Amino acid sequence: MKSQSEIRRLQGTFDLLPGDSARWVWLESRIRAVMARYSFGEIRVPIMEPTELFQKGTGETTDIVQKEMYTLTDRGNRSLTLRPEGTPSVVRAYLEESLGAQRPLWKLFYIGPMFRAERPQKGRYRQFHQYGAEMIGATSPSADVEVITLCRDILLDLGIHDAKLILNSIGSAEARADYNTNLRQFLLRPDIAGGLCEDCRRRTQTNPLRVFDCKKEGCGRLLRDAPTIDAHLTAEDRQHFEFVTQSLAGLGITYEIDLRMVRGLDYYTRTTFEFKTTRLGAQDALCGGGRYDGLVEVLGGPPTPAVGFAAGMERILATLEESGWSGVTPERLDVFVCAIGDRARSTLGATLGALRRLGLSADTDFQGRGLKAQMKEAGRAGARFALIFGEDELIREQMSLRYMDEARQADISADTSTWTRGLFEKTA
Ligand code: HAM
Repeated sequence: MKSQSEIRRLQGTFDLLPGDSARWVWLESRIRAVMARYSFGEIRVPIMEPTELFQKGTGETTDIVQKEMYTLTDRGNRSLTLRPEGTPSVVRAYLEESLGAQRPLWKLFYIGPMFRAERPQKGRYRQFHQYGAEMIGATSPSADVEVITLCRDILLDLGIHDAKLILNSIGSAEARADYNTNLRQFLLRPDIAGGLCEDCRRRTQTNPLRVFDCKKEGCGRLLRDAPTIDAHLTAEDRQHFEFVTQSLAGLGITYEIDLRMVRGLDYYTRTTFEFKTTRLGAQDALCGGGRYDGLVEVLGGPPTPAVGFAAGMERILATLEESGWSGVTPERLDVFVCAIGDRARSTLGATLGALRRLGLSADTDFQGRGLKAQMKEAGRAGARFALIFGEDELIREQMSLRYMDEARQADISADTSTWTRGLFEKTA
């Protein structure tokens, strides 16, 4: 249908109508249930943050900060950014609320919209939604395993059984400094540098690891022979990663190691991971995460280890739909009230109120239509009962209760104070 408004929603954003929003409510409730089983508490942080939070947190050399942030200057001349991801905000709140002083380990999760000015395509939007979990304060690799297991259990709980876990270790800052030098040397080789795109030539100088984020085929070909991080890992990095892989194997969780998976954010240290699906085409990452032992310090706190992940909810729902999921069965309306004539209509408010106080859902016709149209509306709403009354019924102090799924009708008292919920239970 052609839009009747000149004003359109922004590209890469969506309206969710009641049928769609029911899927989201269902998804959110499943996420919350699994998070509770893992003892993660919900944190809600602002959607707007000072721009500096992401410049420092997400990282100056990332695509997100360089090209994808929605940044604006407010009336007080402050630079604000619509959050492109949740992790820096959670860490900011952790520091601002002095959570570390209260107890050593925090397990937090969030659900909400994120904003990135990317080129919209299937699975990639400008306003999208993530659920994510952050475990702040744990050095042990068992925390990495717990977060990966949580990420996987949510997918399984939702019915996504075929997502593939991809793992890597990008080492500690020390290992990466070493690796960056080596990688830069490779990227500066004339036979390589000449073929790289402009972005990758810039990345060679600013943060060589970021070349692996490049989606261009030409760069991908040249990077095939690039040195990988594994040779540069320290003994502790290796031990940490071995613990993670062995624990996962022990839990029967299969994974693939991809030495080029560096993830698009600057804060990672050691373990990085993604869950990928084959059902969505190019935008195949459902969830991504990893350890970020340096971020709390970067944002002004004491050295504090952390690990977490976030998942794209649009991609999760699209994966379910691709797998033949039929969605959420809409709740049926309990009672549709059909009042005939002015007198009956004047008592509508009391009738609806009585039904709702019993905890039932109740609706009526607000357009003054006749009984036939009202019954049609009751059918469209999927009502279990139609409650019908006009002048005659009110004189007899009776109303007709029609069982919509059965060809029968019964009289009930018009005195709403005598009604009980049981009166509207279906008795076949
Ligand atoms: P990320 O990989 O940037 O990580 O995003 C996580 C997930 O969000 C992706 O795997 C994808 O499913 C979804 N996503 C990202 N961008 C878009 C988009 N434009 N449209 C639709 N979906 C998108 C993070 O955001 C980190 N904060 C994860 C993390 C938490 N690491 C540690 N803790």
